[in-house]
Amino acid sequence: MKERHSVSTAAEVLAGKAPPQVEVRGWVARKHTVGGLLFALIRDGTGYVQISARRGTSDSAYDAAKEATKESAVIVRGSVRDDRRAPGGKEIAATDFEVVSLAENWPITRTAARSPGYLFDKRHLSIRGPKAIAAMRIRAEVIGAAFDYFRENGFQLISAPTFVQAAVEGGSTLFAVDYFGKKASLSQSAQFYEEAALPALQKVWIFQPAFRAEKSKTAKHLTEFWMIESEQAFTSQPENMEVQEGLLSKMVERVLERRQAELKTLGRTLRQPDMPFMRMTYDEARGIAEKKGFGFEWGDDLPTEAEKAISLSQDSPFFITDYPLSARSFYHMTYPDRPKVTMSADLIAPEGVGELATGGQRIHDYNELMSRITSQNLPTESFSWYLELRKFGMPPHTGFGIGVERCTRWIAGLKHIRSASLFPRTVSRISP
Ligand code: 4AD
Ligand code: MG
Repeated sequence: MKERHSVSTAAEVLAGKAPPQVEVRGWVARKHTVGGLLFALIRDGTGYVQISARRGTSDSAYDAAKEATKESAVIVRGSVRDDRRAPGGKEIAATDFEVVSLAENWPITRTAARSPGYLFDKRHLSIRGPKAIAAMRIRAEVIGAAFDYFRENGFQLISAPTFVQAAVEGGSTLFAVDYFGKKASLSQSAQFYEEAALPALQKVWIFQPAFRAEKSKTAKHLTEFWMIESEQAFTSQPENMEVQEGLLSKMVERVLERRQAELKTLGRTLRQPDMPFMRMTYDEARGIAEKKGFGFEWGDDLPTEAEKAISLSQDSPFFITDYPLSARSFYHMTYPDRPKVTMSADLIAPEGVGELATGGQRIHDYNELMSRITSQNLPTESFSWYLELRKFGMPPHTGFGIGVERCTRWIAGLKHIRSASLFPRTVSRISP
């Protein structure tokens, strides 16, 4: 009669939390034989565990393991034992090895893996690699930290539609949708819906996809990404920045606490940033860029190279404040004595990564918002409900949006933002 084997995970086996006889279910990541001894490294979603099968001792397990190709799905039963030479110091001596789904020849060869284009064409398969797995786990901690941060700080989670009519961030990056004959687009940001929810909930946050028809082929642009946004009534811009630094710090803290192994897999050295984050003005940032040979006109948004140079000037996340109105969307409030300068800030990551978040003080006065919309020749009709909010009790309020993949990219030390997404969408990619 077969012995009873309890189903265990690789993580449990390595942590010594599995019983002596186990069943492990996973995929063959690697295999090699030494004489009559076969070793297979099994990946099961919690980690990797080594299996051994000896010819002559457990012939049926040995033969089945021999047939199992890389990435075959398998079920292995055997006894756990300590082995200093095994990864993680434990090994399962297999008595039973079952190939549940035999894999064809794995197409991602060592040579093929050197081409990022090919890896992303085969993303449905290449996500099984250790670096992709590490990035996904870190991304999940980034998101989890946001859920905890906002809950602990009294922000209510809400949701908003993806089909919209009002352009939050300007018409040039809208994905048009034919909505039963009406012109609509995919949401660039849920900010206006958050603002509408303020009188109901006072402090809100949201976590959902945003869409940008960005033609830019850069290491920081996706056409579809996940955005965390937050909005708070009765606040001013300095408080808004405190929320952002608190949130980013929590993300880093959580990853440092729980994802050391993944950071190591990615070769990332991450350190907890000091609070409060440094604040520099747009004018100061412009001066830094100028000195480094990346000068630009006052009033322009930071050109990519200038942003990179400014980012490289610091070794911890920081804010750039007081952007010119010409570089900001219409809803931004300006200083009473400086009508061309907004009460806004970008949260910038160091190491050349650049913008992680944008936030600011919104115009809460009806007439001021109306004159801004008309002075910028924007269609008042599409902002009618956004304007109407200002007629029914709209206090001063602030908010921000922070990109999940941008944060993951910086925290995990990924070269390109697409590695922070399971199935990235860019100008040149909509499959797989
Ligand atoms: O700076 P953005 O455009 O600001 C807004 O949309 C505001 N309405 C947000 C708000 O205040 N509620 O976008 C916010 C953040 C950026 O800082 C960046 O992290 C991310 O969203 N983001 C992108 N991430 C990846 N690919 C893109 N194309 C992105 N565009 C913006
Ligand atoms: Mg921005």
